[in-house]
Amino acid sequence: MAPGVINGGSSSGGTGEHLPAKLTLQVLVCSIIAAFGGLMFGYDIGISGGVTSMDVFLEKFFPHVYVKKHHAREDNYCKFDDQFLQLFTSSLYLAAVVCSLFASKCCKRFGRKVTIQLASLFFLGGVVLTACAVNLAMLIFGRLFLGAGVGFGNQAVPLFISEIAPAKYRGGLNVCFQLLVTVGILCASVVNYFTSTHPFGWRISLGGAAIPALFLAVGSLLIVETPTSLIERGQPEEGMRTLRKIRGVQDVQKEYDEIVNATEMAKQIKHPFRNLMKRSSRPQLVVSMLLQMFQQFTGINVIMFYAPVLFQTMGFKSDASLLSAVTTGCVNVLATLVAVFGVDKLGRRFLLIEASVQMLIAQSVTGGILATFLKTTNVLPKKYSYVVLFFICFFVSGFAWSWGPLGWLIPSEIFPLETRTAGFFCAVSMNMIFTFIVAQAFLSTLCIMRAGIFFFFCGWIVIMGIFAYSFLPETKGVSIDEMNEKVWKKHWFWKRYFDEEQDQDQQRDKP
Ligand code: BGC
Repeated sequence: MAPGVINGGSSSGGTGEHLPAKLTLQVLVCSIIAAFGGLMFGYDIGISGGVTSMDVFLEKFFPHVYVKKHHAREDNYCKFDDQFLQLFTSSLYLAAVVCSLFASKCCKRFGRKVTIQLASLFFLGGVVLTACAVNLAMLIFGRLFLGAGVGFGNQAVPLFISEIAPAKYRGGLNVCFQLLVTVGILCASVVNYFTSTHPFGWRISLGGAAIPALFLAVGSLLIVETPTSLIERGQPEEGMRTLRKIRGVQDVQKEYDEIVNATEMAKQIKHPFRNLMKRSSRPQLVVSMLLQMFQQFTGINVIMFYAPVLFQTMGFKSDASLLSAVTTGCVNVLATLVAVFGVDKLGRRFLLIEASVQMLIAQSVTGGILATFLKTTNVLPKKYSYVVLFFICFFVSGFAWSWGPLGWLIPSEIFPLETRTAGFFCAVSMNMIFTFIVAQAFLSTLCIMRAGIFFFFCGWIVIMGIFAYSFLPETKGVSIDEMNEKVWKKHWFWKRYFDEEQDQDQQRDKP
């Protein structure tokens, strides 16, 4: 049997269709509001590269980098190499790792809605601190607050959307989160472009994050709590009322019963994290964590964080670099739309495998051109810079309809309720840890490995493509609470983790 195909059923799993699948305005609006958490996250990703290439900002907070950057004979690959400059970008993700643990507990105990509200408050605090920063400590402290917002938001939003969406539309709606991440990155590049020459440009850029943060703060007052979370927290009537409201039909008994069943199972599990370590949780845990790690090892954030810096390295002038970042930002948004509309039709596996091939070609060509033509102190000939820009856009588009959105979607839909928040926490923290590593290490690694860094990412892309082809089951169209039965227990490889041991595990866990 072909890898990824499920025994005894279609590769789509094809269930969830027995549940009412009307896409109501309520679900649409709530998903869009929640996805504003993605806008905030994206704005943070996109803003740092531009800000750290602004002279006024460098002069104020990183004077030695400023001097180095303007040193005419400085090595092309090393002119931005500075641990503190990287810490400005990466500190946010360090805070996000720590905070997503609290966020996962908050999600379970107080619900998804409260967690999203807290995210917006952290974001607002972070925006005020960074935009008004008078010294490096205040700046980094603000980034930590923003990181708390990202930790809370990224933990709650994808789960929230997956739980309120009907199975048939879950992929598309969930990808709205990623869509707004890309819109956030694009907005940040545009803002950077216009503020780059203003003496307080960096304050305007950092302060601009207040807009998505306010949207999220106000919007989060209007969203519903998910029926799953209500039932899980002992409010079954409210859960039933909300379910009717979001499905737009009265007869939701079947779905309600499924959620109650899942909740009953979940209640027997006293320690979700311990449960996550059991053999029967391994497939979902391994897949989620690897997906997030692979997502970062595509090398996407080298482009998202450091595009302006990278383009300057290639010899573009400062504003041309920012403009190139705007170009990749536009490609990112447009290509994500392919995922919004394609993920529930083409399936997850197809997108991931196709994009791996595409990204591999793009990274190899980029690395090849830089290795051949960009030496220590020369300027990359113009025509090659444009070819590199084209292949970077080719790379970004592949990422945007695959590993970007699916890195978030799949972990949010594959765990059973009893381990869902704990499992998703592991996925979110993997993302943040590897984002931190890439952000903290890239400029130094670029200095050491030079163009070779692109081939390092190529190696990872080959591994992730093989992984998606061989080990990733298709989850398209399967109801979220039926995933174990319909997907994992039937997968050619992962089914071995669901033997009698699972039953023994459950017996042992009962109070
Ligand atoms: C990733 C980010 C990345 C962004 C780019 C997200 O899915 O988690 O690290 O910067 O996509 O669009």
